[in-house]
Amino acid sequence: MSVPPRELDRRHFMGLSASAAAAACGSTSGLAGETRRSLSPEPRRLRTRPVLVGSGNCLPGMKAAFPRLVAGEAPLDVAIDVVKVVEADPEDRSVGLGGHPNEDGVVQLDAAVMDGATHNSGAVAAIENILHPSEVARLVMERTDHCMIVGRGAYEFARAHGHEHVELLTPQTRRIWLRWKETLSERDDRFPPPSAEDSKQASRSRREAELLAQADAILAERPTGTIHCSALSVAGEVACTTTTSGLSWKIPGRVGDSPIVGAGLYCDAEAGSAGATGRGEAAILSAGSHAVTELLRGGASPLEAGLEVLRRVTRQARRAAAWQPGLVDEAGVPTFGLNFYVLGLDGGCAGVTLRGGGEYAVAEPDGGVRLEQLVALHEA
Ligand code: GLY
Repeated sequence: MSVPPRELDRRHFMGLSASAAAAACGSTSGLAGETRRSLSPEPRRLRTRPVLVGSGNCLPGMKAAFPRLVAGEAPLDVAIDVVKVVEADPEDRSVGLGGHPNEDGVVQLDAAVMDGATHNSGAVAAIENILHPSEVARLVMERTDHCMIVGRGAYEFARAHGHEHVELLTPQTRRIWLRWKETLSERDDRFPPPSAEDSKQASRSRREAELLAQADAILAERPTGTIHCSALSVAGEVACTTTTSGLSWKIPGRVGDSPIVGAGLYCDAEAGSAGATGRGEAAILSAGSHAVTELLRGGASPLEAGLEVLRRVTRQARRAAAWQPGLVDEAGVPTFGLNFYVLGLDGGCAGVTLRGGGEYAVAEPDGGVRLEQLVALHEA
């Protein structure tokens, strides 16, 4: 079988330019300089460089919360506070308030937290009308014997713990969803909505025309999003969280990777931490975050671990394309997006993506809080 072109294969990868290797954060995360850690069963308790790594939309939350990690706060407290900024932001349409709804126009959220020190986790899935599912996931971890609560049960659980009922569909996301619904088929009874241009000519407000144009731009691609944050404390403990409104216009009740331990996030005090954003089904089918963390445990650098799992995802997608055409292009490159954010116990970290560009967020004492380019496995 011929090797599909355009893939950054292992040989090519080992020859990565210094700039690509340098895109991974942390002074000890380079490829050649990585030393293998012993497979000691004892969690490390060393004082270390505090580091946060996550999706690009973590940046505002990291700016606010990183000083607390530096001051010695627990990594889970800090990671949750990073993602809560975006859960409450109506302008981020991939998470929490203002997230794109399901096909019925209902915003259903998924979230999980994991604590490396206790090796415990909690999650909620398809939860509605709760602003901070990451906090509810933490309550599942700390106040129950369970790992996940879904749907109505998750909502009632959150309400019992004092979370308010909140309408998460904003006027703008309702408008975009309605436009999606009205343009879905020519064989239903809904008339297509006026175009942005028609609206201008009908002398609707300029704002209205702008919103329609914005909606059309969003609908041109099926929007995905999500936020993940992994944290390493000064005590050398890792924790992480992932929270999302999931795939836009999803079938009601669909659950992605974000609340699934091992798929959308994973951490282990003996190995490191990882999380995913992008096509949830690919992260689930590859057990992606767990796979990345296991490679860290075996001594891979964060960059190497992330890219290796993306290689697996690519091979898996090629096989799946036999029954799901469109999953890969003619060159065998996945057509979907998937990113991993990876954090080693030494504070080295990386952000990797299947193809194309994009950025991830990093906070570290020596480098500040900043965005870095994701390292892509395949050329765009
Ligand atoms: N990665 C988010 C989702 O697929 O729901």
